[in-house]
Amino acid sequence: MYKKIINKTIMILGASILQLPAIEIARDLGLNVVVLDMNPNAIGFSVPGISKEIISTIDIPAAVEAAKKHHIDGVMTLATDMPMRTVAAIAKTCQLIGVSEDTAIKTTDKSAMREALKMAGVPIPKYFRVTDIGELNAAVNCMVGSFMIKPSDSSGSRGILKVDDRTVVQDAYEYARSYSKNGIVVVEECMIGPEVSVETMAFEGKVQVIQVTDKTTTGAPHFVEMGHSQPSRLKCVESIKEVAIAANKAVGIENGPSHTEIIVTEEGPKIVELGARLGGDCITTHLVPLSTGVNMVESCIRIALGEQPDLSPTLQCGSAIRYFKQHRGIVKSIDGVDAALQLQGIKQVSIVHGVGETITEVTDSSSRMGFVIAQGKDANEAVERCELALDTIKVEIL
Ligand SMILES: Nc1ncnc2c1ncn2[C@@H]1O[C@H](COP(=O)(O)OP(=O)(O)O)[C@@H](O)[C@H]1O
Ligand SMILES: [Mg+2]
Repeated sequence: MYKKIINKTIMILGASILQLPAIEIARDLGLNVVVLDMNPNAIGFSVPGISKEIISTIDIPAAVEAAKKHHIDGVMTLATDMPMRTVAAIAKTCQLIGVSEDTAIKTTDKSAMREALKMAGVPIPKYFRVTDIGELNAAVNCMVGSFMIKPSDSSGSRGILKVDDRTVVQDAYEYARSYSKNGIVVVEECMIGPEVSVETMAFEGKVQVIQVTDKTTTGAPHFVEMGHSQPSRLKCVESIKEVAIAANKAVGIENGPSHTEIIVTEEGPKIVELGARLGGDCITTHLVPLSTGVNMVESCIRIALGEQPDLSPTLQCGSAIRYFKQHRGIVKSIDGVDAALQLQGIKQVSIVHGVGETITEVTDSSSRMGFVIAQGKDANEAVERCELALDTIKVEIL
C-alpha cells in the first residue's frame, strides 16, 4: 500500500508502544530499520526483520556510534522529548536531516523554550526561571493569583503543580525539582481557557498545520490529559494556527513534525509548550489519520530521509480518544470490551493497566489505565461514540 523506498536505512529511537507505529510503517515502506532501546524486551523489538541495538535513547555517544556503524540515511523518534537531543546529535554527526542541537534544547527545556519564544515575540504567559529558593521567592512575589510550578525538562505532566495557596510553594518547588534533570524549575502565570494542540509538519523551512486538536485534562492540580478530539471545535482556529507557526519558527524547526500546546486565553492563544516531534496519546498515529487521512508518521519518515511528504488531506471527519475514569485500587475485572468494539465508529480499545494491577488516581500520563478511540462525522460524534464505549466497558476496582 505504501510507495516503497529502496535501499535506505532509518534509525528509530525507542522501541516502546509509542514508537511501534513508526517501526511498522518504516518496515512496510521497505526500509532497513535500526531500532534503539535500553529495554531488550521492548515491544518494538518484536517486529520481524529489524536490526536491534540495546542502547538508551538518551545515551548520545553510544547512539551516534550505532548510527555510524549502520550507515543510516535518516533518524527519528516518535512522541518522546529527550531522545530529540539524540536525534539532533546523530543528524549533525552523520549530516542527516533533523533539528539542530539548539532547536533540540529549545524544544525540551521549558526555560530555554520560553526564552526563545519571548525573544521572537510569540505570546506566552509571564514566567520565571528558578534555580534556588531566593529566585523562587522573587518569582512568587511577582505573581498575581494562581501560578504553575513545573520542572524545566520533564514531560507527561510529571512534577507539575498549580499553586493557589502560597503556603504550598515550597512543597510544589521540591516536587517540581525532583523531576527536573537540570535542576531548573519554571514558575509561570496560570493561563485560563480551553487547551488545544497543533500538529504541524515542516519541510524545507515551510511549516504546515495538519490538524488542531481539542484537549481535556484532569485539571488542577496535575493537568493530565484525559482526552483529545479533532478537528478543534473552537472558533479562533486561524489565530491558533498562526501562533503555532510562529512558535515553530522561533525555536528553529525547519524539517519534521511539531506538537504545539496552546491555551486560548482572553488575550488570545498563548503557548504552553512545543516539541519538535509527533504528538503522543495516539494523536498523530491514530486521530490525525482518522480525521484527515494524512499519515504523519510516514511523512516524518520520508522527511527524515529527505523525501517530500504527501500532506494533502483525503478525509474530513472527526476523531477522538478518551481515557478511562479510575480511582486508587486493584483492577478486579474489566467487562464489555468486545461489546464496545462492536459499537459504531469505535476503532480501538486499549487496556494499559489490566486485571490484577494496582492503579492510582490519574497523577501523570503513565498512570492512566486505558483508552478508547473513535471516528465520527465530526468531533462531537467521535466524542459521543467514545463516551458510549466507556459506558459499555465495566471496570471494577477494589
Ligand atoms: N502556565 C500554564 N497555565 C495553565 N495551564 C498550564 C500551564 N502550564 C501547564 N499547564 C497545564 O499543564 C499541562 C502540562 O504542562 P506542560 O508544560 O505541557 O508539561 P509536560 O511537558 O509535562 O506536558 C498542560 O497541558 C496544561 O494543561
Ligand atoms: Mg505538555
